[in-house]
Amino acid sequence: MNHEMNRDLEKIMFTNEQIQETVKRIAAEITKDFSTYSNSGKKLMLVGILKGSAVFMADLMREIDLPLTIDFMKASSYGSGTKSSGMVNVTLDLKYENLSDYNVVVVEDIIDSGNTLAFLLGYIKDKGANSVKLCALLDKPSRRTVNIDIDYRGMSIPDEFVVGYGLDYDEKYRNLPYIGVLKPEVYSD
Ligand code: IMP
Ligand code: MG
Repeated sequence: MNHEMNRDLEKIMFTNEQIQETVKRIAAEITKDFSTYSNSGKKLMLVGILKGSAVFMADLMREIDLPLTIDFMKASSYGSGTKSSGMVNVTLDLKYENLSDYNVVVVEDIIDSGNTLAFLLGYIKDKGANSVKLCALLDKPSRRTVNIDIDYRGMSIPDEFVVGYGLDYDEKYRNLPYIGVLKPEVYSD
């Protein structure tokens, strides 16, 4: 399966089985935490950050045993080159302007510098959400430049560039069912 893309990988970091175990663990935590809200009139909304969270979001929502709604946002950081400047543009916004009826869980593929999410969490709070939590499948703590609390964390990883399970390099590899590290020569092609 995926033999062609597999040739570009140096190693597999997490198999699909390992990812699914993590997804189930996080979904159980969210189910437990938000079941107390189910009679409070507040609704649970998962907000996926496109495009990287699409695969994680699809698996996660099916493991959460609560009524919920979903929406998506897209943001792009701007500044020079690959260095994130901390300036973020919202290029796809949420359907609702007022989120006071909602407990929001933001679903992200990976937290790297933390710049994108620091901005987006504030942006969603400004829409009046009853609560805003952050869920990230992967965490690269060594790269952090801003302080950010991850309420639901999958796995911590070292400072390596990973692809698969939604994560891309140059828009490729998102459809790999597992997460791996690219061979260095792939970048220099
Ligand atoms: P941050 O604002 O620096 O935290 O940027 C996070 C975003 O950078 C993620 O949503 C990914 O799109 C991208 N990113 C960071 N590290 C990786 C990686 O190792 N592989 C693929 N994308 C990454
Ligand atoms: Mg990306």
